[in-house]
Amino acid sequence: EEGLHPTKYPWEHVAWTKTFDHQALRRGFQVYREVCSSCHSLSRIPYRSLVGVTHTVDEAKAMAEENEYDTEPNDEGEIEKRPGKLSDYLPNPYKNDEAARAANNGALPPDLSLMVKARHGGCDYIFSLLTGYPEEPPPGVKLADGLNFNPYFPGTGIAMARVLYNDLVEYEDGTPASSSQMAKDVVEFLNWSAEPEMDQRKKMGMKVLVITSLLTALSIWVKRYKWSPIK
Ligand code: HEM
Repeated sequence: EEGLHPTKYPWEHVAWTKTFDHQALRRGFQVYREVCSSCHSLSRIPYRSLVGVTHTVDEAKAMAEENEYDTEPNDEGEIEKRPGKLSDYLPNPYKNDEAARAANNGALPPDLSLMVKARHGGCDYIFSLLTGYPEEPPPGVKLADGLNFNPYFPGTGIAMARVLYNDLVEYEDGTPASSSQMAKDVVEFLNWSAEPEMDQRKKMGMKVLVITSLLTALSIWVKRYKWSPIK
């Protein structure tokens, strides 16, 4: 069963002439960290990849150090704990899938790294999903225990409850944290996590375009110049 079609939103970062808004990415990471990361992993993102994108080296190091990771086994085969470093990946909120399901009524919160690419509708879908929980399910709709009504979710009964409420986070740049602002920022951030090379790709595309245009113009001029005495 298909969900309601999400509204098409004019995402600025999607335009081929635009790069990500890095202020928005920083806010979006904050939303991921303070809200989503209690249930969802972002397993393809190491702390080092945040450097120069959303955070400074020192900030990224400090965040990594807040977590503990297993050491390599020593000669006796013992594994110990060590603080995180830049090369470590963002931590998984649960030990394994069983623990994740046990904490979520049997449902598995999927990894969010590639979610923008994995779901039909991408940014529009995730934004609509996050902001699309009505106060009450429509009359007559009966959902199984532990499921929440969301018209955008295929099947309309989703194990994730509404998570975004106005002013849930406090943005350091003073942007008012309405639930739609947070949804927009976290979606843009999740688009970055799925396509961290996007800015590079667009900048390179622009260079290729400028250079090939100049070369084309030059070759037209040379051709006309060379042939002009003959005509
Ligand atoms: C599913 C995003 C916070 C628990 C999902 C899905 C997305 C998502 C995109 C997949 C929907 C689909 O399969 O099409 C987010 C974002 C969050 C967030 C961006 C933060 C703003 C949370 C939190 C929890 C949670 C805090 C736990 C309290 C779940 C669960 C599912 C899910 C259990 C599986 C739902 C199902 O298959 O029925 N979430 N989520 N999420 N999320 Fe979240």
